[in-house]
Amino acid sequence: MKKELLNIVEKKCKNCKACELAKTRHNVVFSDGNADSASIVLIGEAPGETEDMSGTPFVGRAGQLLNDFLNDAGLSRENDLYIINTVKCRPPENRVPTDEEKAACEKYLHAQIDIMNPKAIVFCGATALKSFWHDQKVQISKIRGNWFNVTINNKEYRAMAIFHPSYLLRNHSMEEGSPRRLMQQDLAEIKNSLNMAAVC
Ligand code: URA
Repeated sequence: MKKELLNIVEKKCKNCKACELAKTRHNVVFSDGNADSASIVLIGEAPGETEDMSGTPFVGRAGQLLNDFLNDAGLSRENDLYIINTVKCRPPENRVPTDEEKAACEKYLHAQIDIMNPKAIVFCGATALKSFWHDQKVQISKIRGNWFNVTINNKEYRAMAIFHPSYLLRNHSMEEGSPRRLMQQDLAEIKNSLNMAAVC
């Protein structure tokens, strides 16, 4: 059911020319994961080169690292998560998407969340978080790991922000309190909350 509704949005999104990114993209990168079984929506920033060429989010180096962390936490990319990006087309040189590009993509992002109606939203990195957060000076390092509520299209969702895996590619330490250790803790908390929801 969800898949059918998402297919309609995906068709529109694949023909989108609402911003300049349409001129340079190879593929619109719409989503990955099983929409019918996933109870978490994970939102990244925008496709990189590998994603642009393949049409699938988080399949490059950052995506592979994300997979490792998800596996370690016992979260299944195939069944538990529906993975999307704030912006569906690759910004040249992987720059941060502009406000105009984010605004042009917002209707697809909101439709995906609305249709998925997830138990939890995970904002992966600052771009995803700031698309839904009032204070644009918010720092992931300050609020990661804490549940908060976010309202999208008049519906309230539980949400958590986590580090972006690109940041973890530059930070290798596994010391107590290091970004990689905090990522492990945050994903364990997310997995735990899914188990709790299954019991309740
Ligand atoms: N970074 C993102 O935020 N999304 C991707 O799909 C790949 C890298």
